[in-house]
Amino acid sequence: MMIGKKIVESVRKRKVAMNPVVLAYDSFRVSCYATTTRTSCQHHHRPVSLSVFQFQNPNFLTGNTIFLKMQRFCSVSGISKNKAMVESLQHFGVITSSKVSQVMETVDRALFVPTGSSPYDDSPMAIGYNATISAPHMHATCLHLLEDNLQPGMHALDIGSGTGYLTACFALMVGPQGCAVGVEHIPELVSLAKENIQKSAAATQFKDGSLSVHVGDGREGWPEFAPYDAIHVGAAAPEIPQPLIDQLKPGGRMVIPVGNIFQDLKVVDRNSDGSISVRTETSVRYVPLTSREAQLRGY
Ligand SMILES: C[S@@+](CC[C@H](N)C(=O)[O-])C[C@H]1O[C@@H](n2cnc3c(N)ncnc32)[C@H](O)[C@@H]1O
Repeated sequence: MMIGKKIVESVRKRKVAMNPVVLAYDSFRVSCYATTTRTSCQHHHRPVSLSVFQFQNPNFLTGNTIFLKMQRFCSVSGISKNKAMVESLQHFGVITSSKVSQVMETVDRALFVPTGSSPYDDSPMAIGYNATISAPHMHATCLHLLEDNLQPGMHALDIGSGTGYLTACFALMVGPQGCAVGVEHIPELVSLAKENIQKSAAATQFKDGSLSVHVGDGREGWPEFAPYDAIHVGAAAPEIPQPLIDQLKPGGRMVIPVGNIFQDLKVVDRNSDGSISVRTETSVRYVPLTSREAQLRGY
C-alpha cells in the first residue's frame, strides 16, 4: 500500500490526475484508466479523482474510471457487435472523428483477438509471447493522433504490429495507392497477423502488396518503404529510437510511448524544415519495446 501511495503521489506530481479520460493503457499488467490531456475529450466527461485508483498489486496501478464504467455498460447491455463498440467509444468522447469511427467499424476487432475472449471489451488482451492487443480506446487515440498523416497515398509504419489490427486500419486509411507496413519481432505473431488481416476488410490490400507485415527489430524501423508520413510504435521505448526519427518524412508524425514504469505517449513531428518537435499527449502503460529474447523471458 505504501508503494501504491508513492505511485499516486508521483502521478499527481505529473499532473495526470484530474481529468477524465485516460491514462490510456495497453498492457494487462497495469489495468488503470486514469487521465488524459486530450482536450477533445475533456468536455464530454465529468472529472474523476485519483481516489478511484485501487492497488490490488502494490507493484502496479489498477483501478477504474470512465472506461470501466463503459465496460460495465457493454456487458450489461449485451453489446456484442463491433459497431456498438465504436458507438460506445464515440459516446464516451474517445472517438470524435468520422474517419476513425469508419475505419474501426470496418475492421472487426473480433478477427484479431484470441478465440474465446470478449472482442469488444475496452481492454487489452493477451495474445501470447508476453504481448497484448491494445485496448480499443488506445487504438482509437493513436488513430486520432495520426489521422492527418494517414491520407490516401501516404506511407505508414506500424512497429510492434502484434495482431495486425492497427496495420489493417492504416492500410484502409492510406488506400491501395499508399503503403502500410507492420514490423513485429515475434515470427509467430507475424504469421498470426497475416492470417487475421486476410480475413479482414484489408485482405485485398494484403494481396496487392500495399499492406505488408515483416519480422524484424522495430527499433531499426523498416527502411525499404521509408520515409513515412505516419509511424506508430505499439510498445514503450526507453528513448525514441534514432532510426525511427530518421525514417520520418518532413511533415511526418510518429506516436510512441516512451519510458519504463511511468510512460508518456509522445507525439513526434518532423517539421517541413527538417527539425523535430516532441510533445507529450498523455500518460500510458505499454509493454516494452525490447529484444525478442528479453520479451520471451518476461522482459
Ligand atoms: C502491446 S503489443 C501491441 C500490438 C499491436 N499494436 C496490437 O494492438 O495488436 C506490442 C508489440 O510490440 C512487439 N515488440 C516489442 N518489442 C519489439 C521490437 N523490438 N521490434 C518489433 N516488435 C516489438 C511485441 O511483440 C508486441 O507484439
